Amino acid sequence: MTDTNPILDQLQDLLDLATGRVNGPEPCLHRIAVDLYASQQHFEREWETIFARRPLVLCHSSELPHAGSTLVHDEFGLPMLTSRDQAGHVRTFLNVCRHRNMRLVETQGFHQLKSLVCPYHQWTYGVDGQLRNIPREADFCDIDKSELGLVELPTEERDGLVWLKLTPRGHMDLDDTLGTIGADLAAFGIPDAVVYANNTRELECNWKLIHDAFLDGYHVVRLHKNTVGAFFPDCISTSQQCGLHIRSSVARNEILEAKTQQRSKWNPRTLCTFAYTLFPNAIVIMHPDYTSLIRLVPLSADRTLFSHSMLVDEMPGTEKARAHFDKSFELIDQGVFQAEDIFVCEGAQKGIRSGANQDLLLGANEIAVKQFHDLVEREVNR
Ligand code: FES
Ligand SMILES: [Fe+2]
Repeated sequence: MTDTNPILDQLQDLLDLATGRVNGPEPCLHRIAVDLYASQQHFEREWETIFARRPLVLCHSSELPHAGSTLVHDEFGLPMLTSRDQAGHVRTFLNVCRHRNMRLVETQGFHQLKSLVCPYHQWTYGVDGQLRNIPREADFCDIDKSELGLVELPTEERDGLVWLKLTPRGHMDLDDTLGTIGADLAAFGIPDAVVYANNTRELECNWKLIHDAFLDGYHVVRLHKNTVGAFFPDCISTSQQCGLHIRSSVARNEILEAKTQQRSKWNPRTLCTFAYTLFPNAIVIMHPDYTSLIRLVPLSADRTLFSHSMLVDEMPGTEKARAHFDKSFELIDQGVFQAEDIFVCEGAQKGIRSGANQDLLLGANEIAVKQFHDLVEREVNR
């Protein structure tokens, strides 16, 4: 990493906070209206202005490893399939036959396919979406197979992530969207990582409550006191907006070791924990020896699909290494996320529903939550 690396600059900020060279953030009080988490009307507005328009993280590149690797997915509200074609490009199509609209591949999830055969009359498409064969083609007059490929949605693979836009036949503007954050993902090895484990569940809370929980340095030693809290000093955290995304980090106990190391030798994964909010639907958390990739699909004002994948540098080759990552996944996915972070998100949604409060309150160490909500509101009102 070079001296101008923003990751190391942020690590320097954490070190300055940890050593008392600079003061923590000024006291403040911000309010977020509970209605923004509870109103179905607001949810629909967010969907139209953000999710229907912005590129969304679909999966990690390693989940579509070969030509013909296909993910069938309906959760964004359209029947879609995303395949790697023979040329290596990842492409998304509506999972809908061009003949009489039948769904092409029935079962959700990952498949390895050679072609897509419609069950109704067996029109057959390549994984590149091209219509290859029509049984009894001569029965149709004036039909041009080259015009009857599957309807495509903009999809692009970048820095290890597959991004999708929910606009059939639309245009992808990933350079604009990603900005400098792609270099961060590359610096943390995300493009070469592989998915080792995944757990997907439906949560009873608004999608923004989940982002809030992962942007908040205030709760770490408190909510997580029986699990990972002991690895972190209290409220040595910082965040920076990068276009639409947020790079946030919390110091680990090892942070003071940075004082005696050359900056070029700093290891961001062991000195602190970086978490990226990839607007609008992903969170990437850089743990010491693996990465959590969380993808969110808002389903309604108070329901969200939460998909957590563990990324590792390479597939573990020994029983011992597998046991290590199995144990780590169990701890982070069940012990930390499910029992602690998700527990408070779902608990807060119940509290919001009760009408006890008009607002949520944010203090100095929750300022990244405020940054995120400002971004959402800017999008909604644009
Ligand atoms: S509807 Fe697909 S082949 Fe007829
Ligand atoms: Fe947490």
